[in-house]
Amino acid sequence: MATGDGKDRGRDPLEELRARKARARLGGGPERIERQHKAGKLTARERLEVLLDEGSFRELDMLVTHRITDFPLEKIPGDGVVTGYGTIHGRKVYVFSQDFTVFGGSLSKAHAEKICKIMDLALKTGVPVIGLNDSGGARIQEGVVSLGGYADIFLRNVLASGVIPQISAIMGPCAGGAVYSPAITDFIFMVRGTSYMYVTGPAVVKAVTQENVTHDELGGAEVHAERSGVAHFIAEDDVSCLELIRELMTYIPQNNRSEPPIVPTDDPPDRRDERLRAIIPDDPAKPYDVHEVIKRIVDEGRFLEVHEHYARNIVVGFARLGGRSVGIVANQPDVLAGVLDIDASLKAARFVRFCDCFNIPIVTFVDVPGFLPGTDQEWRGIIKHGAKLLYAYAEATVPKVTVILRKAYGGAYDVMSSKHLRGDLNYAWPSAEIAVMGPEGAVEIIYRKELAQADDPEALKQKFIQEYRAKFANPYVAAEMGYVDDVIDPVDTRPLLIEALEMLSSKRDRNPWKKHGNIPL
Ligand code: HXC
Repeated sequence: MATGDGKDRGRDPLEELRARKARARLGGGPERIERQHKAGKLTARERLEVLLDEGSFRELDMLVTHRITDFPLEKIPGDGVVTGYGTIHGRKVYVFSQDFTVFGGSLSKAHAEKICKIMDLALKTGVPVIGLNDSGGARIQEGVVSLGGYADIFLRNVLASGVIPQISAIMGPCAGGAVYSPAITDFIFMVRGTSYMYVTGPAVVKAVTQENVTHDELGGAEVHAERSGVAHFIAEDDVSCLELIRELMTYIPQNNRSEPPIVPTDDPPDRRDERLRAIIPDDPAKPYDVHEVIKRIVDEGRFLEVHEHYARNIVVGFARLGGRSVGIVANQPDVLAGVLDIDASLKAARFVRFCDCFNIPIVTFVDVPGFLPGTDQEWRGIIKHGAKLLYAYAEATVPKVTVILRKAYGGAYDVMSSKHLRGDLNYAWPSAEIAVMGPEGAVEIIYRKELAQADDPEALKQKFIQEYRAKFANPYVAAEMGYVDDVIDPVDTRPLLIEALEMLSSKRDRNPWKKHGNIPL
């Protein structure tokens, strides 16, 4: 068998080629492949078969080997990563898939160069990059050369950011500085039970902080999907993870100069859903699930939620309206009354910026009582984090359509894609309450003296609340000012949104020239 030492020149050249490629396909060999399967994981090549359209994969650098001379390390062609290009639903993507069966998928200089090569091609050709990560980190035998390889990838991640979509799936270990490549990419997928990400592993944590934690407790898929927000999607196994990536790709364009694909639908654009009139409870303090509003409006009720388990007081994700891809941002009254806090602001800001990078119109459903009060939020910087959401909406030049469902109070009214931040079309339902604050709080402040002197303060308070509600807790003051473009019957929301997106499809807007803005990080 040819092993890359070039000593088999006597035999049929085609036979040698086949032998070398067969050796590369074998990766770390049958035993390690079996170990990979026993761990519940597919191999690097099997993963690409699921991810890409059948027969579309064109592999590059299959015969690359490492150049380590200090250690007697076998040369396995491919060197622990499978790279190349293929298609997803007929559209080109570049891919790399780390092979844990070869030196634990660890990253050598040669391994890094393979990844950089496809990233360079992807950037030149305006094609998304999908990385399947399953690696023990820097190739220990290579030392600093391997660290340099990581930095070469990080640089390309940064330069490609906002130019081509970059997607990472974590399908095994991802530790140390290696986490920073996925962190820079647009979306991170993790697989429950078999993937983990952390900057320092359990042993170092134990040594430094005396804490006892497992890989999973420290950086498993649940932790990152629910607590840290590092992971945007969580899947039950490799196959469903890869299928989820295929689904995400249907909503996003090839690059920042192209449009997302239009997907024809049988769902009529003029469909009016009567149930929308009854979703908002009569009692303004009662919650409801904003998912129901979204699903009743979008094409075929299909909504691909991003960050489903993180900062659940705001809902973000992709859907289509009249076949056009849209990014949806919606306050969630069912969780913390839909209040904006630090995590919700960060979640929505990053999503809005992704949509703006990649020409995906943003549809915002507003029902927000304000920003979350308290020392915890203030001390952790709700001021700078809330500002990120405001900044993201204000700088976005994609079509922005807003529907105020119920509450739009205080600063949160401004932040949630208001007209003042260049919202293109802003609608309100008749149930909308647009004001500086809710009636209770407002009455307690502006009538403090009267209430203190009243014989029956509670009765007087209720009277003032009713008056305030009639005056301010409705959409009509905003409509008189032109701050909402129309107050609409909820059943008309789908047809009006589709019409708005059609009208705005030729929108061209731009920001003043600058090197880049200084978003409050
Ligand atoms: C070279 C490695 C390796 C590495 C694993 N292997 N990690 N080889 N460099 N970093 C090899 C093992 O020697 C083994 O080879 C095979 O891969 C499988 O590893 P196992 O340990 O048998 O697998 P498992 O028990 O599943 O454990 C996986 C693991 C463990 C948790 C990832 O291998 C591990 O702790 N590796 C070291 C991780 C690490 O500290 N990496 C450096 C992190 S710092 P054989 O031949 O026996 O099959 C870093 C910095 C990046 O990466 C900085 C960027 C700026």
